[in-house]
Amino acid sequence: MFSIFKLPVAIEFPGDAEDFQEDCSRQAPRRVSDFPVQATRRLGADVEEAPANLARNEGGLQFSVSEINEYYTKTKPRLAAFNPAAVSEAAARTEPSRFARFLMWGYALAVRIRRLLPWLFLPMLFAAGLLEIALLRLVLAVRPPERTGLHERSRPIVRELVDQYPFGAYAVVWKSLQLGYLRESLPWSEMHRVVEAAIGEGTFSARVFQERLKVDGMDINPISLKKAAVLPHVQRALVCDCTEPPLHPGSVDLLISNNFLHHVTDKGRVLRNWSKVARYCAFNDCTPDWSRALPPSWILRKVGLIGLSNRIAAVVDTLGAQSLQPREVLEATVNEHFEVVSSASFFSARTYCIANVYSLLCLHMGPIPEEIKQCLLHPWLRRMSTGLTQELCDLLIQFDSRERRDEDVALCYIGRSRSVAASPRQQGLRCECGGEVNEGGECNACALRYSCVDGMWFILPAHLKYVEANYDPRAAAEFPREHL
Ligand SMILES: C[S@@+](CC[C@H](N)C(=O)[O-])C[C@H]1O[C@@H](n2cnc3c(N)ncnc32)[C@H](O)[C@@H]1O
Ligand SMILES: [Zn+2]
Repeated sequence: MFSIFKLPVAIEFPGDAEDFQEDCSRQAPRRVSDFPVQATRRLGADVEEAPANLARNEGGLQFSVSEINEYYTKTKPRLAAFNPAAVSEAAARTEPSRFARFLMWGYALAVRIRRLLPWLFLPMLFAAGLLEIALLRLVLAVRPPERTGLHERSRPIVRELVDQYPFGAYAVVWKSLQLGYLRESLPWSEMHRVVEAAIGEGTFSARVFQERLKVDGMDINPISLKKAAVLPHVQRALVCDCTEPPLHPGSVDLLISNNFLHHVTDKGRVLRNWSKVARYCAFNDCTPDWSRALPPSWILRKVGLIGLSNRIAAVVDTLGAQSLQPREVLEATVNEHFEVVSSASFFSARTYCIANVYSLLCLHMGPIPEEIKQCLLHPWLRRMSTGLTQELCDLLIQFDSRERRDEDVALCYIGRSRSVAASPRQQGLRCECGGEVNEGGECNACALRYSCVDGMWFILPAHLKYVEANYDPRAAAEFPREHL
């Protein structure tokens, strides 16, 4: 079974629980410490815990043992995608609480039902869509929306996204507002050398940059990156660890990273690394309401079952490899490394909850699963699906424009680095040893050779070399182009 995270969310593709098992037996992370320690803690696992915040240094890369992003760098590239089965596997080996096990078991069952009977879900989606549209119109008639600012600017963007995310109200509203913000606020005139960290399959990046600029795209997952590598605005594709990008200090005008920071526990370390290489950084994160405002937790919270609501949210965070901090904690870290030149927040917990009803109806934790999406895009249904999605998302954005901004789930920042080198000594890629990697992929200092496979440079430290070894161009070619 495949499942890939979009924003902080998953879609799934038929396949490979078995692949995962096989993969595990070949190269299984067998030790508890091979999985996010934070995850196992949150699941209530009774395991021998690695000391929290103990910094390790592997291949020159500093990270804390409770770094949730290790899940991506160690497990995901091998699996090609995020996989709930993989998380359950990990959890099973680390003895999760009975409650977590029950939720995961239910989720696995839902996935199977959905795959067998995707059409079953359509009447519910259409009925919910029509009902929400009627209710939102009523509410907006009583209290009209704001007609200025980010929300108003983002409304026309909705139509660019509805074909990619039919009934994916969460993804469409989030990405429309994020695009509305970035297109307006990026320091376009100062951006010459731009890199995008964790670019994924590049569809969102293409919408940000359109024809305006070319970027170097970086990601740890070569299967996703391969799709980005062939897009016209991507001039070079680098498989690397974006928590410590292989760039020289001060060598970049802008480092942009969309929908990535929420997968990082030690945000300070990553923001510090970024602030050293780039004059400007643009990035976003989520508040803990990303999981707490999903309909099940939200409803439980509203009826006073706070404990249960929190426990469900914690399991969802784990399944989503999320590490979320309160807004003020995040902003203190951001301010330490950047002078914030622009920021925005959107998607109140309430709007977010309403937009996520469609995922819940699909018994899913993220955007509409691929098999249901294909049914919605059937030639007989396409116009109706996309038309309803457009109307619904337009109304949700209007609804969100009147909400209190202190309850927003999505936070975006553009910052000027406080510590970037004024004049870069080197412009090319940085080897693990700190030397310069030349055009032919060889380090001028230590003579280490990096390779270019399938149009992508693999600039990986020793402990991540398996990402390159496991890359299979044929499997990558079979993977859907749009998957995030
Ligand atoms: C939620 S997706 C976002 C993709 C894209 N920016 C977008 O907005 O559609 C997160 C991406 O982060 C990548 N990623 C996770 N950990 C990484 C790491 N340590 N280094 C580089 N990329 C990483 C994943 O492979 C995935 O493509
Ligand atoms: Zn070197």
